[in-house]
Amino acid sequence: MAAHITYDGQKQVFHLSNHFLSYLMQVDQHGLLQHLYFGKKIRKYHDERSYPGLDRGFSGNVPSLNVGEQPDRTYSKDMILQEYSGNQTGDYREAGSIIRSDIGSVTVDWRYKGYEIIEGKPNLTKLPQSYVESDDEATTLNITLEDSALKVDAVLTYTIYTDRPVITRSVKLMNKSSATYYLEKIASAQIDFPKQDMEVISLPGAHVRERQIERQKIKHGTYRFESRRGTSSHHMNPFIALVHPDTTEFQGEALGIQLVYSGNHLFSLSKDYIDQTRLIVGINDYDFSWQLKGNSEFQTPEVIMVYSHEGLNDMSNTFHHLLRERVARGKHRFSERPVVINNWEATFMDFDTGKLKSIIDKAAEVGVEMFVLDDGWFGHRDDDTSSLGDWYEYKNKFEDGLGGIAQYAHEKGLKFGLWFEPEMISRDSDLFEQHPDYALQVPDREMTLSRSQYVLDFSRTEVVNNIFQQMIKILDNISLDYVKWDMNRHLTEVWSNAYAPMRQGEIYHRYILGLYDLMERLVERYPNILWEGCSGGGGRFDAGILYYFPQTWTSDNTDAVARLKIQYGTSLAYPISSMTSHVSESPNQQTGRSTTIDMRGDVAMSGVFGYELNLDELPEDELDSVRQQIKFYKKHRKLIQFGKFVRLDSPFVHNTVSWAFISEDQKKVLLFNFKILSEAQPEISVTKLKGLKSDSDYIEPATSEIYGGDELMNIGLYDFPVQQRDFVSSVRYFEALQ
Ligand code: DGJ
Repeated sequence: MAAHITYDGQKQVFHLSNHFLSYLMQVDQHGLLQHLYFGKKIRKYHDERSYPGLDRGFSGNVPSLNVGEQPDRTYSKDMILQEYSGNQTGDYREAGSIIRSDIGSVTVDWRYKGYEIIEGKPNLTKLPQSYVESDDEATTLNITLEDSALKVDAVLTYTIYTDRPVITRSVKLMNKSSATYYLEKIASAQIDFPKQDMEVISLPGAHVRERQIERQKIKHGTYRFESRRGTSSHHMNPFIALVHPDTTEFQGEALGIQLVYSGNHLFSLSKDYIDQTRLIVGINDYDFSWQLKGNSEFQTPEVIMVYSHEGLNDMSNTFHHLLRERVARGKHRFSERPVVINNWEATFMDFDTGKLKSIIDKAAEVGVEMFVLDDGWFGHRDDDTSSLGDWYEYKNKFEDGLGGIAQYAHEKGLKFGLWFEPEMISRDSDLFEQHPDYALQVPDREMTLSRSQYVLDFSRTEVVNNIFQQMIKILDNISLDYVKWDMNRHLTEVWSNAYAPMRQGEIYHRYILGLYDLMERLVERYPNILWEGCSGGGGRFDAGILYYFPQTWTSDNTDAVARLKIQYGTSLAYPISSMTSHVSESPNQQTGRSTTIDMRGDVAMSGVFGYELNLDELPEDELDSVRQQIKFYKKHRKLIQFGKFVRLDSPFVHNTVSWAFISEDQKKVLLFNFKILSEAQPEISVTKLKGLKSDSDYIEPATSEIYGGDELMNIGLYDFPVQQRDFVSSVRYFEALQ
């Protein structure tokens, strides 16, 4: 069924709906756009959400349009549920938008002006976004609000997908006056919820501990889930889910919200004095100020909102499909990703041609498909204190040049990939020598170092151009199949000598626009390259990056136990095809923990698989396991990378963890079980599968046992034979017989 957007001119109600959901708004008697409902699909609306008036003390009233008439004291902006709030006109809650005018006022008052409905989904210029491939995939509603004193329009854009429980939103501000204003805050979306018990799930973390699931009740006060680091960050992912207290993985309402943006973000949630909750999502207002000249526009990033009444797994599944199919672009979004060996944890920067060739030889022998040369191949880089910004090969490290390594890998039947960190500059580099001003810095102040490096001022086109030119010299001359794009520090001293003092609040966002511009130019020029995002592990794992690069390095933490949580948390919002995960050595370099090669393999192959260790140092039996793992992965990777991922048992709750991959036709099933620590008197846990066909029989080829789909889902399977040791894992494959 097609998506509908209807406008009831009499009630002035907008109704966006598809098979799954309804979203309702109404223009009220004062011309304010009120939020009515976002939830399960309803057929018709009968005014039941018409906001009850009440004279609430200390909440100002909207003046009457009739001169001399007293205002309606039962109506206040401080209590109604608004679609997009202004500032300082009697609504004391968190503002959706703040504009500093040419007289210094920050008052904003939005009133309805008009609407249009468009088939399909128009492009947002210069920003990542979800898209459609034909107009019948979605319908778009543009509602224009205006502040008549400022002569500024806010165009609120809502796109509803036809066959997905998804609405996207963004806002365009159009300054129709000739005055210059400053946007101090401009949210991409706002939702005001009526009183209800709500909980919020967020994905906080840290370097080597990304995206840990946290769930909390929303009480009074304001919660800010945000990044101020110039990137989306390890520390708080640009995603939240709003759920009811009874929502689980498989039942209950869940509203997932992602910002398609890789810079400073803010998800602010506040419960007001009458227990209503306001959500504001967008670019963080921290150190943000954007000069909006007369007759110019500002486009916010896009927000993706997913609705489910069947729990968190269903919500994630919608995100997985959308991000894979209509956010990621290019030929690799659906291509089966190669098994990689990356030399980073094997050699760090201490390598030469001999070492690399021996890694390639061994990798080819065990069945690896791509060799990735990580950090240390350029400038004169032997450690992390030099050479960022000098993207030419480090001659001393290569006997036959960098091209020689690429050729060697190709001759051995492997693809070849290379690491870059395009946004950075080392003090010890030719680039810094020639252009010290290219680094972000504030005159007459110390420059904060992090990992011994500075950040390039990507708000400046000439800086972005310089890096583009350097990169294409390598990319045009070396035969590359893959690029890993790293980013190993966060922004400080955010100031640019290319902008006037009053415009310095634009630099964080302009940096991101410069970054997107560079990525766009490169992916367009090299469509055959498989691009992978990275930021000290998964420090920039967001839908913005996925628009350019279909996969991201999930974490620098490759410990199998830590990865259970990191990958489980990441899967809440992002598809498996976007999560790269490698087997590394044991004891693990990040945690010191020793785990079996089987457990490491099983965790890593639950994503886009690879290795990051010296295969030469593995004993023969482990090497044999590696061969088996690669064989197994190649056989099942389509199911893993593109099947339905089902979270069954959470590492945030239990000592046992399980998840499954199920083909869209429900015929193929891979079940992964993990037990973290051994226990005396161990529990015997059962895993009940989900999402199979009840009336099909499934054979487990490894044992030739046959089980009914109804059995697997209702009776379930004991996880493992009891084993008195830590770090146990198992993978079981089932196939439907009919
Ligand atoms: C951080 C990345 O996450 C690692 O995989 C590796 O590429 C290093 N940077 C190299 O400096």
